[in-house]
Amino acid sequence: MSYLIKVGIIGGTGLDNPDILKNREEKQVTTPFGDPSDKLILGEISGVPCVLLARHGRLHNLLPGDVNYRANIWALKQEGCTQIIVTTATGSLREDYKPGDLVILDNFIDRTHGRKQTFYDGSCPELKGFCHIPMEPAYCAKLRNLIISTASNINIFCHPVGTIMAIDGPRFSSRAESLMFRQWGADVISMTTCPEVVLAKEAGISYAAIALVTDYDCWRPNTEHVSHDLVLKNFQKNVVKLISLISATIEQMPKEDWSDTIKKHLEFAEKSVWITN
Ligand code: ADE
Repeated sequence: MSYLIKVGIIGGTGLDNPDILKNREEKQVTTPFGDPSDKLILGEISGVPCVLLARHGRLHNLLPGDVNYRANIWALKQEGCTQIIVTTATGSLREDYKPGDLVILDNFIDRTHGRKQTFYDGSCPELKGFCHIPMEPAYCAKLRNLIISTASNINIFCHPVGTIMAIDGPRFSSRAESLMFRQWGADVISMTTCPEVVLAKEAGISYAAIALVTDYDCWRPNTEHVSHDLVLKNFQKNVVKLISLISATIEQMPKEDWSDTIKKHLEFAEKSVWITN
């Protein structure tokens, strides 16, 4: 069986510009889990069908803890997305991940609380049972590898691995927290991507995240501490690079055979569901 691909793009802070898509069309949708953050923008990149969703809404009116992550992922699934590429603005927790750098995440530590992490909680009567989804590997290896090789081909520097620390926000971390997260082995920090990465796995969708480093949080001596202004300033400065990498990766996608990967993600999700009666 061969599969057609459709790519969901979830744009974080600073990347919610629909101009990256050609032949755009807006679509208002709802899901069994409520409404996604905004209308979906359907369109294409290099002939590949894509669906863009602004994680915080196009007016940036949703705090990280108020984003309906389940509705966002389900809306992309309903629309037929087989892969999801997301962006996230992050603080760096290590010296060599510098503001302006891109990081292709390969792991996460979730310190968010109270965000709905599963579709299988009875909200949707069609989804029976519980889902105990394994989280290793957390992100899709094939999609990550394609992003990494594309970055190299178009001469965009990126760190090929990185563990993200997900915090609730909306406040930034204290210095003591920042130092602790460094000791825990996290490389970058943000307020999103968890539970997005978990829900994408439950939904059987291949998911990869490109983190853009905007600041050194507040652990590094003699360095400007993170602030909303600094995040936006450094994101805007580097957003062209990020858009180039996403567009170039999507252009490469039809050259690959995704059948096995898509099938494996769907089977993996299916076999993680436990129905007791
Ligand atoms: N997003 C961008 N920089 C951040 C930081 N230092 N902490 C949490 N989220 C962020």
